[in-house]
Amino acid sequence: MTARIINGREVASKVHQEVAAGVEEYRKLNGGVPGLTAVLIGDDPASHSYVRGKERACEKVGINTDTIRRDASITQEELIGIVEDLNNDPKVHGILVQLPLPEHLDEAGVIHAIDPMKDVDGLHPENAGLLVLGKPRFAPATPLGVQRMLIEENVEMKGARVVIVGRSKLVGMPLALLLLQKGPGANSTVTVCHTGTKDIAAETRRADVLIVAAGMPGTITADMVNAGAVVIDVGISRVDDPTRKHGYRLTGDVEFDRVSEVASAISPVPGGVGPVTIAMLLVNVLHAANLATSH
Ligand SMILES: NC(=O)c1ccc[n+]([C@@H]2O[C@H](COP(=O)([O-])OP(=O)(O)OC[C@H]3O[C@@H](n4cnc5c(N)ncnc54)[C@H](OP(=O)(O)O)[C@@H]3O)[C@@H](O)[C@H]2O)c1
Repeated sequence: MTARIINGREVASKVHQEVAAGVEEYRKLNGGVPGLTAVLIGDDPASHSYVRGKERACEKVGINTDTIRRDASITQEELIGIVEDLNNDPKVHGILVQLPLPEHLDEAGVIHAIDPMKDVDGLHPENAGLLVLGKPRFAPATPLGVQRMLIEENVEMKGARVVIVGRSKLVGMPLALLLLQKGPGANSTVTVCHTGTKDIAAETRRADVLIVAAGMPGTITADMVNAGAVVIDVGISRVDDPTRKHGYRLTGDVEFDRVSEVASAISPVPGGVGPVTIAMLLVNVLHAANLATSH
């Protein structure tokens, strides 16, 4: 079997068109456009590149975007002050504090300071709690992106055995909660694996849908995949590659070539979950703007 490649760029472009139409409708009704402000602390090259990608995507769909950049030496109080100013700015509908933050900052404290109605990353305890209760307001963009890819791929999620490798608050955990909900694109039987799992291969081999978010290249080899499974690779790691311009290339957690011979469909890295994640962030910003007008 040679797996179909799930093209994240195509899915993202479809979502962009939907959001652009939603932005236009918002503009007609309210006179302005939705706004996203990112807060970027320090000089981590990957974070800078993610934020640039988000800015470009916002511009494409007509969302107003701004990035506040500060040196890594910023204090917790200064950063919370920035967040509070954004909370009080009616032109800002979505606030995104790019993670990870420098070690001396208390990430949870900063997330807690974000107005939950502007928390388009879906990390505030109020939004995480709503997801647990089956009433999501903002779910994190990567899990939303994975779900959207599965929907676009017409994967029957109801009753599907889904195995997720990774239980982070940003990806694995909220994704498990999303796919457990009753409703379209969900209603699955979900197993979550992590470093405490005794026999990961035994779990992954039972999956109709295998989603991998471990952050470790080579985590999933072909012998760990059920024939015909749908495989979504969330992982993004930089590995040294002197043949590339920047001296590295991006790779996922799944051994793509070998697993492609076993799976029925697989998402590549790059060009898979990454672009759809950004697109779903735009969906959350539009949603935040619409919620703000309905209050
Ligand atoms: N495409 C995108 O847009 C996007 C967005 C976000 C993240 N990512 C990428 O996705 C990956 C995961 O991100 P994250 O934020 O979820 O990472 P994270 O916070 O480091 O969490 C990784 C999770 O994977 C588990 N894990 C790690 N190695 C494992 C192994 N060998 N077997 C089983 N479980 C293992 C860890 O288990 P423990 O809990 O036991 O430690 C943890 O739960 C990273 O490569 C990240 O760059 C991509």
